[in-house]
Amino acid sequence: MERFLINGQKPLSGEVYISGAKNAAVAVIPAVVMASDVCVIDNLPNIEDIRSLKDAMENIGAKCEYLSEHSLSINPTAIKSYIATTDSVRNMRASYYLVGALLGRFKKAEVALPGGCNFGNRPIDQHLKGFKALGAKVSIENGIIKAYADELKGASIYLDVVSVGATVNIMLAAVFAEGITTIENAAKEPHIVDCANFLNMMGANIKGAGTDVIRIIGVEKLNGARYTIIPDQIEAGTYMIASAVTGGDVVVRNIIPKHMDPLSAKLSEMNCEIIEGDDYIRVKSNGNLISTNIKTRAYPGFPTDLQPQMTALLSVAEGTGVITENIWENRFQYIDELKRFGCNVTVEGRVAVVEGGAKITGATAKATDLRAGAALIICALAAKGQTIIENTRFIDRGYECIEHKLRNLGADITRVDKNGKISENTVLIQKVN
Ligand code: EPU
Repeated sequence: MERFLINGQKPLSGEVYISGAKNAAVAVIPAVVMASDVCVIDNLPNIEDIRSLKDAMENIGAKCEYLSEHSLSINPTAIKSYIATTDSVRNMRASYYLVGALLGRFKKAEVALPGGCNFGNRPIDQHLKGFKALGAKVSIENGIIKAYADELKGASIYLDVVSVGATVNIMLAAVFAEGITTIENAAKEPHIVDCANFLNMMGANIKGAGTDVIRIIGVEKLNGARYTIIPDQIEAGTYMIASAVTGGDVVVRNIIPKHMDPLSAKLSEMNCEIIEGDDYIRVKSNGNLISTNIKTRAYPGFPTDLQPQMTALLSVAEGTGVITENIWENRFQYIDELKRFGCNVTVEGRVAVVEGGAKITGATAKATDLRAGAALIICALAAKGQTIIENTRFIDRGYECIEHKLRNLGADITRVDKNGKISENTVLIQKVN
């Protein structure tokens, strides 16, 4: 029931520190299920999805303890249950990684079908195909994924589509499979490399993560480990776009600039100045943005998770921009909300044509999913007057302390509760045990 109130047209300036990557953390935490000792995960983002996953881990018996706001100790030795069907599992997408991890550890898993952002059909056939190839019997009954194996044996698996989720899930299940598993046409996202690095640190034998062929030689045991999650590419990109849209000058710190190449290239084309350092990117914009075209692709292509934010940016640029969404069949649902600001966008199937130069004004709009929510914030920062953004809970799933970070850069943004009272950032309230 919380809302953001944003008064736009304040150029952002200063420095923002990027949190750990959500999509890496949600793969690394389930991987701990297979460890034989305590693991400590550092640089975890303090976001709703991580708290849901922690609940899910506790529900199967893991002992979790926050050592600090961003460090979680997880003791998996007491995990006895291979069944994960609670609401915390149902409410998020990445809980499906528990299937691969529990199957790896117990040779059996029962996990509720995942929820998460709704932008059309989100099949998991490639995950299931991988588990079957490793020797599991797999079924979906009453909304629960069930996978059972007498033994897991290495196999050669070719993914029909490049899938982040299937690549990670098969990698997890294959860690203890006897012999060699190869995943061909694997996804190459930085979070896949991060998860593989963590598994290898614990004793797994995975080679090729970050290329389209991953080779896993089965091992018998994983040890405990302490691991630091990589910075969040999508959070970083969102602040880079926020700087561009406000005619700002923002240094986005604690990032891996290489991960930002697809966005940096587009922002340069749009007339922003991009200055790269070892672990930061500075985005300077004089407000005179030129339109460009975007085609979303699997990494190292332009990320679909920055597509909504780019639509907002193109709306205020000079000229017409065409966005082609190649990953998700229905990821333009948020456009109706952008139109409330005066954005001029026409959607035809997987293509959105954005007529730039819109004189956008503040509006009341609803976040329909996580990145759609981020796009509304980008619009609000550029709009004349006040914006009210409803459904902040979607934004809290993936952005740590977004209003604090934006306020530090000079934005006028406040979180209010349903009575209009300035509200504590629930994201900051720790559930430290
Ligand atoms: N696909 C299949 N079959 C499968 C799996 C995927 O056909 O078994 C298709 C999907 O329908 C889609 C494409 O393959 O067309 C890519 O899906 P992928 O499996 O890569 O997506 P995901 O693993 O479910 C992750 C991120 C998403 C991000 C996508 C694409 C996590 C937890 N989620 O989802 O992130 O959009 O990769 O990069 O890692 C977000 O953070 O806002 C978010 C939605």
